[in-house]
Amino acid sequence: MSVIFRRRSVRSFLTKSIERDKLERVLRAGFEAPSAYNKRPWEFIVITAQEDRAAVAEMSPYAKMLGQATVAIAVCVNLLVGKTDSKQTTWWIQDLSAATENILLQAVEEGLGAVWLGWYPDEDRVSAFSARFGLPSHVLPFSVVALGYPAKTPEPVFRLDADRIYYGAYGKKDNKAPEYRRI
Ligand SMILES: Cc1cc2nc3c(=O)[nH]c(=O)nc-3n(C[C@H](O)[C@H](O)[C@H](O)COP(=O)(O)O)c2cc1C
Repeated sequence: MSVIFRRRSVRSFLTKSIERDKLERVLRAGFEAPSAYNKRPWEFIVITAQEDRAAVAEMSPYAKMLGQATVAIAVCVNLLVGKTDSKQTTWWIQDLSAATENILLQAVEEGLGAVWLGWYPDEDRVSAFSARFGLPSHVLPFSVVALGYPAKTPEPVFRLDADRIYYGAYGKKDNKAPEYRRI
């Protein structure tokens, strides 16, 4: 089964630290993500010190596992790099989402566990993180990934919902569409 189908959020971790080469491949996966205009507007902050992880855990009500995870990767956007097109549409949120997901998937490939912690656009989380880690005003923390060897990995789940797939137009069903089966 591919890493996409095996990936689940891991929120409890062993104390075993992550080997350098594994961490580098996880980071590389972030850099390999697709991005609008191929601008790759991301920057990553790798946080390992216990007191720093504990401080980040305090910034969000949903980030307690950071105390346990051996590494936190803050996925940040550099707004000076992200391209804004002629219609003034910013694409960086999609870019940073793709980078975050790539990191989660490579974690699975490496036998690690990870969970995506939402940061941007929560203003309190963004400002607390930026202050502690010295981010300039054109750099924002988009997400934080808690990473480590999993103590518990949730089972894969089958979420495909055939009722939400249409063919050719909204609401249109196709009699010849495959019957989706659990794999
Ligand atoms: C934008 C975003 C923000 C999230 N923020 C948190 C968070 O703050 N804390 C947390 O424990 N999980 C967070 N998650 C993980 C989701 O809760 C999780 O992906 C969802 O429950 C589905 O479970 P699964 O990842 O195991 O498939 C976030 C996921 C996304 C995409």
